[in-house]
Amino acid sequence: MINVAILGLGTVGSGVAEVIEKNQNQIKKALGDSLHVKYILDIRDIPGAVKDINVIVNDPDIKVVCETMGGKEPAYTYTHLALEHGISVCTSNKELVDAFGVELSAIAREHNCSYLFEASVGGGIPIIRPLRESCGHENIIRIAGILNGTCNYILTNMKSGKNFDDALREAQEKGFAERNPAADIEGHDTARKIAILASLVSGKKISYEQVSCEGITNITPEDFAYAESRGMSIKLLGVYDSSGPYVNVAPYLVPNDSPLYGVNDVFNGIMITGNQVDNLMFYGRGAGKLPTASAVVSDVIECAKSIGHNIKNDFADLNLADNLVPAPAIPERQKFRVLGE
Ligand code: HSE
Repeated sequence: MINVAILGLGTVGSGVAEVIEKNQNQIKKALGDSLHVKYILDIRDIPGAVKDINVIVNDPDIKVVCETMGGKEPAYTYTHLALEHGISVCTSNKELVDAFGVELSAIAREHNCSYLFEASVGGGIPIIRPLRESCGHENIIRIAGILNGTCNYILTNMKSGKNFDDALREAQEKGFAERNPAADIEGHDTARKIAILASLVSGKKISYEQVSCEGITNITPEDFAYAESRGMSIKLLGVYDSSGPYVNVAPYLVPNDSPLYGVNDVFNGIMITGNQVDNLMFYGRGAGKLPTASAVVSDVIECAKSIGHNIKNDFADLNLADNLVPAPAIPERQKFRVLGE
């Protein structure tokens, strides 16, 4: 039996506990052993939960920790402490991966444990592991992704006539939105996610601050009518293009022959273009309790299979990118770029 701890019993953390409980048989098959949640840490008064991280990191039974707290602190301090104790950390926290992923990955390597972050991008979609493992030999020349479930939910609903505030409230009620939904609608969450993906494939650390970023707050019903008249939809995309290289986040017009056109509601879609494999499309629920938790559990299983060893995550040696250029300008008299043009 492998003992794990969950840091933060919010939407994703409670989902991790549920997935581990409900999918015990499948987990046993995948891991060859069972997973047991020995501790839950939460700052709130929750029966059975602990508040002191030292109880967890000083328990030699604990081999893997799920950091589902979100935000920089105390997530950074707790992750650091766990890794220094040789305990692997699996996280959904894209803010932390963007800001400290390189440092934390190096600490994990030093202490023969792992820092994995499948759930930080694309919710339940397996994207980090396929990029790292299945596409490691590819030269990835482009990534274009619908990476924020909340924005996509809002845009899909606005297209069918709902107003922005109602659609945002629904996304919050469904547990898709960030604690501060400005991070979603201003594009910062998408910027963090495309920065993580671009870092994985470019060999340089691209930080969220280096991503030019526009959100969805200026989109009007007239914009939807215009897009429809051209047979297109409006999607908030995160784009990495190796030809600059550039990384940007902005609303794009997506033509109806693109696989991203029909990605609606909370779903995310990520188009990867490799120099040999050509286009790959990844699709699934980009936010929400159980899909995101499922991605965390996939990392827990990978870590549990490699106790005492570091899983190479391609982040530990990255230096900050110093070669980025601005994205091509929006053509004159157009409000949006068109995907593929
Ligand atoms: N707020 C994020 C989203 C959660 O809507 O996509 C998943 O990262």
